[in-house]
Amino acid sequence: MSVIALAGCRGAPGVTTSALALLLAWPLEPGRKMILAECDPDGGAVLHGLLQGTLSDRYGLRNLSIAARKNEFGDAFWRQLIDLSSEDGQQESPRDRLLLPGITDPAEAAGLGPVWKPLAVTFRGIAADYDHDVLIDLGRSGAVGPSAVLAERADAVFVVVRNTLRCLQAAQAGVRALEERVGDVGLLMIDEGPYAAGEVQRVLQVPVLATLPYAPKDARVLSDGADQPRHFTKSALMKAARTASSLLVQRAALRRSPPGTAHPGRRRGDACCAVGLCTLIPPWRRRPETRGRPRPVRQPAPLRVRPRVPGRSAQRRLRSPSTTGSPGTSRPRSPGSARNF
Ligand SMILES: Nc1ncnc2c1ncn2[C@@H]1O[C@H](COP(=O)(O)OP(=O)(O)OP(=O)(O)O)[C@@H](O)[C@H]1O
Ligand SMILES: [Mg+2]
Repeated sequence: MSVIALAGCRGAPGVTTSALALLLAWPLEPGRKMILAECDPDGGAVLHGLLQGTLSDRYGLRNLSIAARKNEFGDAFWRQLIDLSSEDGQQESPRDRLLLPGITDPAEAAGLGPVWKPLAVTFRGIAADYDHDVLIDLGRSGAVGPSAVLAERADAVFVVVRNTLRCLQAAQAGVRALEERVGDVGLLMIDEGPYAAGEVQRVLQVPVLATLPYAPKDARVLSDGADQPRHFTKSALMKAARTASSLLVQRAALRRSPPGTAHPGRRRGDACCAVGLCTLIPPWRRRPETRGRPRPVRQPAPLRVRPRVPGRSAQRRLRSPSTTGSPGTSRPRSPGSARNF
């Protein structure tokens, strides 16, 4: 299974909301679970956003730093998880969509130094030994600094961007720095601005793997615990999240495959695919002679973005595959009937 990291950039809020939409829309076969870990050093938001303080902040990342010092990290990890699976009050929750809450005070980030590495190892172990996927919310600053080890050890890293000029300008340097650190990254685009995915891809030189609609009303359900509109699970945001989750899984699987057997794991320094599968690599990546060498620091290109022309948006409409929930075995804490998805 996969470990996927989501990072943000200046001018493009939406990492936590997108991560929650993905968590709740993630396609889960029986026995599989999905864990969203709020590893944003600037602080988590779900306890007081989506969950509206219905649970105390007794659970989460902060406890893991204490456990790491006592060598009890492994046991403590599972006790920190909160169940966000659907609950209809009649049948038992499948308990397959789990949250590791982040710190509530950014000042606590300083004490998390001993946590990041064991956490990265734990996520890798969970993905390898259990039928679980892990989604990491790194926030805007978590992909640099001590917590960057989480991005480095993830199967795939995606940057959440908005297709506005402000975001694209801010994302240029951030995306490039992240690529230098972790290898190829992908973009998860929130479609707020006037630029088409192809244009964003061309400007940032990174593929747009999936798009989420700009949907403030639906987003507030996830970010601020607003009342759910009717048929929220069928909203444009959740439908797109379903599509996006499948695309992210595929991308992570592609990067995990060993070179030569299937598509190469395209991390910095890996050899390019030798069996004709490179067609999936965007043209600007098809340069075997440059792979494996440190890349020169590029001068930022002057930002020239073309707003999309009418008509192209029709091509960008998203399809929505279905998702299945499934019964699970572990019993993390539940927020009770606070939210129903
Ligand atoms: N797809 C979307 N469409 C419209 N609004 C959105 C979308 N995603 C997020 N938002 C809104 O953007 C704001 C910030 O969202 P969120 O908390 O997810 O951002 P973030 O990047 O995690 O921010 P932070 O740096 O504080 O952690 C919220 O008001 C949320 O409702
Ligand atoms: Mg956030």
